Amino acid sequence: MKTPPRLLPLLEDGLIDEVICQLMSGKEAQVYIVECSGIRRCAKVFKEANQRSFKQAVQYQEGRTVRNSRRARAMSKKTRYGQQEQESAWLNAEVDALRKLAAAGVRVPEPYTFVDGVLLMELIIGADGLTAPRLGDLELTADVARSYHEQIIGEVVRMLCAGLVHGDLSPFNVLVDAHGPVIIDLPQAVSASGNNSAHMMLDRDVGNMREFFGRFAPELLETDYSNEIWSLYESGDLREDSRLTGSFQQNDTIADLAQLLAVIEAAKKEEEERLARAALALE
Ligand SMILES: Nc1ncnc2c1ncn2[C@@H]1O[C@H](COP(=O)(O)OP(=O)(O)OP(=O)(O)O)[C@@H](O)[C@H]1O
Ligand SMILES: [Mg+2]
Repeated sequence: MKTPPRLLPLLEDGLIDEVICQLMSGKEAQVYIVECSGIRRCAKVFKEANQRSFKQAVQYQEGRTVRNSRRARAMSKKTRYGQQEQESAWLNAEVDALRKLAAAGVRVPEPYTFVDGVLLMELIIGADGLTAPRLGDLELTADVARSYHEQIIGEVVRMLCAGLVHGDLSPFNVLVDAHGPVIIDLPQAVSASGNNSAHMMLDRDVGNMREFFGRFAPELLETDYSNEIWSLYESGDLREDSRLTGSFQQNDTIADLAQLLAVIEAAKKEEEERLARAALALE
């Protein structure tokens, strides 16, 4: 196809040889299949800031670290330079997240390069050799749904162990290749420790997966992995191989109550003894 203007610099730099076709036009980006030295890859061209949607909301930005403090100061101001810096930090977030997650063993497309607002990454191929379908476009058997759900919960745990919550995990941001689910679309990924909405976003991500897979395997609708995972994370006990049950008790209130009653009893007894001693002294 005719090379879209935004991909011309990559063509001129020899990063791509040819643009094969457009794959999708999402809310945030246009996605193309391109060829590089005989290998097909995926090019995600981010839209200009004013054409994008919700994901740049302040809620997602909280807790993102900016290495350079001059930049951080500029970003907090509404100057043109500050806005440019904010834009570039936002655009870099997806490639940063992909690198971090790929290194942590999460199944995501391997990122190759990020230039001029274009992310060049591995093209995920489906079991039939064509571009991978989105999870949300598939009909599943109950067994496959259970197996994919378990795999995705494993990925969510690995992401959290790497310090990130996806923040927009849905059946349309998961592709399926011959080995199962591959997670995509990460510009809004949030810092698990630095963002106050991280737990809420984890709930929403895990809830979206539960609802989707629950259509094929209804028992999954009863599970609560999110609170279980988050409570392990908060206590510093979350490991990639943590054994999860899918159920969660709102902490051990009963044990705490018994302990509290014992403390009250002891205080009462102590007071009685004090009063008895005081009465004796008066006699
Ligand atoms: N690495 C990839 N390999 C194969 N297909 C991909 C890849 N990345 C993205 N796609 C396809 O392009 C679509 C859009 O990608 P992505 O979700 O990253 O962009 P987006 O603009 O943020 O989308 P939206 O806002 O609609 O969620 C995906 O649903 C998928 O079909
Ligand atoms: Mg998407």
